[in-house]
Amino acid sequence: MAAQVARRRTFAIISHPDAGKTTLTEKLLLYGGAIHLAGSVKSRRAERHATSDWMKLEQERGISVTSSVMQFEYEGYAVNLLDTPGHEDFSEDTYRTLVAADSAVMLLDNRKGVEERTRQLFEVCKRRRTPIFTFVNKCDRVGEDSLKLVSDVENDLGIQCHPITWPIFDGNAFVGVYDRRLDRIHLFGKDEHHGATRATEQLLSLHGEATRDQLGDLPYRQLLHDIELLDAAGHPFDRDAILRGELSPVFFGSALTNFGVEPFLREFLDLSPPPLARESTAGPVEPTDPRFTGFVFKIQANMDPRHRDRVAFVRVCSGHFTAGMDVGHVRTGKRLRLSAPQQFMARERTAVEEAWPGDVIGVIDRGNLRIGDTLAEEGTLEFKGIPRFPPEHFARVVLIDPMKRKQLDAGLRQLTEEGAAQVFFTSPTEVSGPTPLIGAVGMLQFDGMLHRLEHEYGVRCRLEKIAGRYPRWVTGPKDAIERIGRERGRMILYDAAGKPLILFEDSWGMRWAVDRETAITFHEVAP
Ligand code: G4P
Repeated sequence: MAAQVARRRTFAIISHPDAGKTTLTEKLLLYGGAIHLAGSVKSRRAERHATSDWMKLEQERGISVTSSVMQFEYEGYAVNLLDTPGHEDFSEDTYRTLVAADSAVMLLDNRKGVEERTRQLFEVCKRRRTPIFTFVNKCDRVGEDSLKLVSDVENDLGIQCHPITWPIFDGNAFVGVYDRRLDRIHLFGKDEHHGATRATEQLLSLHGEATRDQLGDLPYRQLLHDIELLDAAGHPFDRDAILRGELSPVFFGSALTNFGVEPFLREFLDLSPPPLARESTAGPVEPTDPRFTGFVFKIQANMDPRHRDRVAFVRVCSGHFTAGMDVGHVRTGKRLRLSAPQQFMARERTAVEEAWPGDVIGVIDRGNLRIGDTLAEEGTLEFKGIPRFPPEHFARVVLIDPMKRKQLDAGLRQLTEEGAAQVFFTSPTEVSGPTPLIGAVGMLQFDGMLHRLEHEYGVRCRLEKIAGRYPRWVTGPKDAIERIGRERGRMILYDAAGKPLILFEDSWGMRWAVDRETAITFHEVAP
């Protein structure tokens, strides 16, 4: 058990669209032997851009789109790469996946550095103190100065950085990386098949006899200069600070040409944490505890429109899971038999016989499970809930057939429980009043909701987008909330649990209120 836990690494990649997440994922699978020629994952991306019809996308892409958990082996490690939905299918699932990960890789474009989406996802990791590894991508083409990039990350995100690999350029050509921890220069071969296969490389040490000749005088002097500067002025290497999420190891490379991908993967696996203890209502649960526990972090509906089957994704936290196992569903007190668990490898689903802490299993669910639910072989412990993340888009649901209000409410209740929608009301007691508002993190989530309301509940609706975009849950005296919330450019809403929030039309107005209105407290996630 201890050995299985120690060799597991469960992580997610966080990035802004187009930084190269698909490309890097594919290269990691290539190095992990899960695919043999790069190019197979890429076609997914083409499909994604070709159409925007949610349902069609879902059918074409099958399970792989919003759910893939890719597992591969690399040098004795069992690696689980959790795919975070991005682009248009960006949703709360993207955030929730991070709760199931033990570390994160922050992928940056070397011309753009930290971008909006990176920042949002980084914040979620930071709040959970998740160790964050930075990979600066696209070094095969000229980008921002490497030193400047590192200091921009530090200043923008407020995290310390320690470059572990450093890029080596010959003029504008990216020729290798230097691994400072191992004193090893990886000089890459030029005869690449455009990154379809592993990069060939030659290994040198910084002060080796042949190194200056191999690199050329100018690139060598530049490298010596950079390393001297980093040693003198940069944050020192500190494994504990990395594990506390305070220091981010930085790597440079090019996912497209594979340069720097393997040195990154090796160091990442060495430095990132295995599954650790998780907080529960019965105290921390050690992964090596022999009793199986896990929690649901994602529910994928609509696998087969003829049945209401859904797949619940369970992150294993402790114990040894075996197929057919009988486990307790703590919230309802029922026993569930996990008979057809699935595991996911790139595009294919395969039945699993066993799983260990850190692994993710997909469980067929008939509507019993909810996001955040705990499954436990014995006992009544529950893992800390998955926070509800603030939506960024809001719309009022307009019924096309006003007689269908009951069905609408039932549908929305179900979608809320699954975590597919967040519902808001304009008054705390509004049950049969005006139709509710729904909130989503990504726009594509709205299409998914409308489609499911129509096909599963027989309710046709349209949505009226509203101007507010920046919600803050609020606590404090009722009259102060009402006074502050009724000002121009603001709106008071109540979530499904009746908790009030103020919705602001612009971020400036929100910050202004947060700074000035001391009578109430503003919360970014539901209190
Ligand atoms: P994403 O999943 O983060 O959105 O990014 P994706 O991997 O799809 O990559 C976005 C674009 O960046 C693609 O180019 C991809 O080829 C390119 N890219 C990824 N990694 C690197 C890299 O290391 N170096 C360079 N130069 N480019 C990289 P595209 O033109 O949009 O698509 P395609 O025509 O190449 O398929």
